[in-house]
Amino acid sequence: MSLTDTSISSVLQEERLIHPPPAFSNEAHVSSLRKLKALRKQAAADIYAFWEERARALDWFAPWRSTCEWKYPRAKWFVGGKLNVAHNCLDRHVAGWRRNKAAIIWEGEPGDTRTLTYQALFTQVCKFANVLKGLGVKRGDVVAIYMGMLPEAAIAMLACARIGATHTVVFGGFSADALRERINDSKAVCVVTQDDAYRRGQSIALKEAVDEAVKKSATVRKVVVLRRSGVEVRMKSRRDHWWHELMADASPIASAPALNSEHPLFILYTSGSTGKPKGILHTTGGYLTQAAYTTKMVFDLREDDLYFCTADVGWITGHSYIVYGPLANGASLFMYEGAPNHPEPDRFWDMIARHRITIFYTAPTAIRAFMKWGDKHPRRHDLSSLRLLGTVGEPINPEAWMWYHRVIGGGRCPIVDTWWQTETGAIMISPLPGATPLKPGTATLPLPGIDADVVRRDGSPCDVNEGGYLVVKQPWPSMLRTVFGDFQRYKKTYWSEYPPQKDGRPAYYFTGDGARRDADGYIWIMGRVDDVVNVSGHRLGTAEIESALVSHQSVAEAAVVARPDDVKGNALVAFVTLKGQAKQSARAVEKLRSALRNHVGGEIGHIARPDEIRFTDALPKTRSGKIMRRLLREIAAGGSITGDTTTLEDFSVLERLREADDDA
Ligand code: PRX
Repeated sequence: MSLTDTSISSVLQEERLIHPPPAFSNEAHVSSLRKLKALRKQAAADIYAFWEERARALDWFAPWRSTCEWKYPRAKWFVGGKLNVAHNCLDRHVAGWRRNKAAIIWEGEPGDTRTLTYQALFTQVCKFANVLKGLGVKRGDVVAIYMGMLPEAAIAMLACARIGATHTVVFGGFSADALRERINDSKAVCVVTQDDAYRRGQSIALKEAVDEAVKKSATVRKVVVLRRSGVEVRMKSRRDHWWHELMADASPIASAPALNSEHPLFILYTSGSTGKPKGILHTTGGYLTQAAYTTKMVFDLREDDLYFCTADVGWITGHSYIVYGPLANGASLFMYEGAPNHPEPDRFWDMIARHRITIFYTAPTAIRAFMKWGDKHPRRHDLSSLRLLGTVGEPINPEAWMWYHRVIGGGRCPIVDTWWQTETGAIMISPLPGATPLKPGTATLPLPGIDADVVRRDGSPCDVNEGGYLVVKQPWPSMLRTVFGDFQRYKKTYWSEYPPQKDGRPAYYFTGDGARRDADGYIWIMGRVDDVVNVSGHRLGTAEIESALVSHQSVAEAAVVARPDDVKGNALVAFVTLKGQAKQSARAVEKLRSALRNHVGGEIGHIARPDEIRFTDALPKTRSGKIMRRLLREIAAGGSITGDTTTLEDFSVLERLREADDDA
């Protein structure tokens, strides 16, 4: 990615300030801004001492010799220390009263439910650890996990962690080709899967995809298949084994060996701006320290919470904030198998009410879908058990934030807008809900112990409200250690934009995000640097224009991209979905187009007004819910789709967008 432009114009100003409710602050781990500032100051004075104190919240079998060894661009944390992630997530809870506490309360899409206490989860994990060992999986081997949202996905992850195998979870919505690519790149020796998975009432044939993916695999020796629906699947003798058969014979006693702090815990693939997916490698001690600490502080976790994160275990959020962070804290987590609109668009609200869920963590794209489906769905349910809301994954439009706060949170729940990445492993920028005054649309300030900033191309800090690049100036415990099998790519992608300087300035980690800091130091993410558009010499964050569009009463969702323009350099094209489905007359559509352009003009300024607005009933998204702007750019430019579309969730969207094009 090249960074040739030096300025990013940021013109969206959000003035609202929402203070933590006193009732919340009084009970919170960090109960005031003053205390948060003191914590931040303490961390800044000695960042390593700060993280050492956090690491001590875990059980270590042997202490570390040095806290952090940083040799550009290689980081090691808690070097010499020994621990076991599964021990920290299970054994230490089972040793005390939490053994009978619910670890996972699970609900299947068809409505079946299961509760696993810490004791039950511990037993399952020990047994599956023995199963893996029995299949010949050794410490350091890679195990691919390709499953839906079942407790067994977490059991498989924890069993790998227990024996020191490295897991790579592949999202169950990925195709056989995508799975094959990840299995081959990681050299997995074993795949854990299920017969098929439920999604929106449909069945997704996971085992069939595994068969396809491992056909010519040089490394996969064993496949373990969990029976979920009972549909008939082909089992290849000697290679394929039923989960329940292996578990029936497995011993429930499995030791948790002391592993090095830098032992590889997992590889998780994420897409770069181009090319093949990157296998982000995370290790043991530093990762768990920060995942556990941030879960406790950001979600202000209390013993009696029931915490629901709607992510899939196939993404980093599912790793850090469904499995490792919550379980390391001995929390009760709620896990749901299926789609948010099955059988009806009120499924989440129905579950929150029935299970008395207290913390709800989801993504802006989901929130915008909820808005589009209408207030009547949440309004039908008692959401009074909720005390905290969270978002992650992309900038949240202030209007969506306000809706979330009002309709889901009943005006009483703080919202933690958490900025982080697959690469950062854990939350980096976020409010602490009992302490930080919130502004809709910003993840607010870096957490104590995180040195993040917005800088110019030359590395100097940006002025207030001057757009620049988001960087992290000091290593942090849960940072990625490398791109699996490609250290050069790791170095080039993350550490070459801001390498160490002769004057002694250290290297900065390059996040790939554009951002600005406001007068209070709050960081406003403006989207990926490649989602930043230059119009008539002004660089504009497309996310800001989208926010402006979504703040219009008729708009449900918007994506803004650039297309080349002779005069302005770039013209802005907005793809817009409207609330409600009613068909409108051509005149009304034209009127709305001009109203929206004026609205954006009013919200941001004349330069940000889209040159073209195209109405569509859906936007192309990845399976994790990110809008695929690259495809929209190609459509906007009037060309055909040439790039990779394998991560697209719903292919028919492309056809419909082309039709929208014809109508325009
Ligand atoms: O652009 C930022 C956006 O998502 C990117 C990371 O994506 P991924 O690795 O898939 O991880 C998502 C879950 C952690 C970031 O570079 N992003 C993530 N959280 C936020 C965000 N943008 C704005 N606000 C956030 N809270």
